[in-house]
Amino acid sequence: MAANRKLKERTKLAPEKHHNTETHTMKILGISGSNRKGSYNWGLLEAAKEMLPDNATLEIFDVSRFPLFTQDHERNPPAEVQLFKQKIRQSDAILFATPEHNYTITAVLKNAIEWGNRPGGDNSWNGKAAAIVSASSGPRGGARAQLHLRQILVDLNMYPINQPQLLLARAQDSFDSDLKLKDPQAKEALKTILQTLVGWTEKINRG
Ligand SMILES: Cc1cc2nc3c(=O)[nH]c(=O)nc-3n(C[C@H](O)[C@H](O)[C@H](O)COP(=O)(O)O)c2cc1C
Repeated sequence: MAANRKLKERTKLAPEKHHNTETHTMKILGISGSNRKGSYNWGLLEAAKEMLPDNATLEIFDVSRFPLFTQDHERNPPAEVQLFKQKIRQSDAILFATPEHNYTITAVLKNAIEWGNRPGGDNSWNGKAAAIVSASSGPRGGARAQLHLRQILVDLNMYPINQPQLLLARAQDSFDSDLKLKDPQAKEALKTILQTLVGWTEKINRG
């Protein structure tokens, strides 16, 4: 019964297909899971703006000041959350830049995900293409956070690309003092991820 209800909900909310994918500009929404000044993950999103394919745009939405999600207000969320949900719906794809805290995604990112996912029947993430990148000061580059995020995206009914991956380890060595990404390999990976995401999104939208 519960499965049937979920299926109905997903069918009802299937995103609008873009028929003219040849000329359609792909709108990507960038979300960082960090609320730290000088965040490397925010830096990755800024770098991504510089290397987009011609037919894509990237808007970064700051989710770091949202109040803590509560079901009590999910049907009447604060204005910034309403805007966020609208931006997700209007976008073709999501680029997540996730830090890793305690081997998983941050509370900031999980909080934004929950607001976007609710109330029942209004999952703004539904059917969206996605890509995940991560930067960490540690040696694993956020690998565990990426895997946890992937698991969450299953429940959100999102479609992340699998490859290529960008797990930026020891991120402090890859940015200059102005938070510009300077690592050539990371830049190349980010560029290829964006191209792959746009191609993947076109495929999904063709249906
Ligand atoms: C509470 C906390 C937990 C952390 N846990 C991890 C971790 O499990 N793995 C990791 O690679 N880095 C961990 N870090 C270090 C982060 O990778 C580092 O703070 C990084 O800069 C966060 O991303 P940001 O620069 O986008 O904020 C942790 C940092 C904090 C504050």
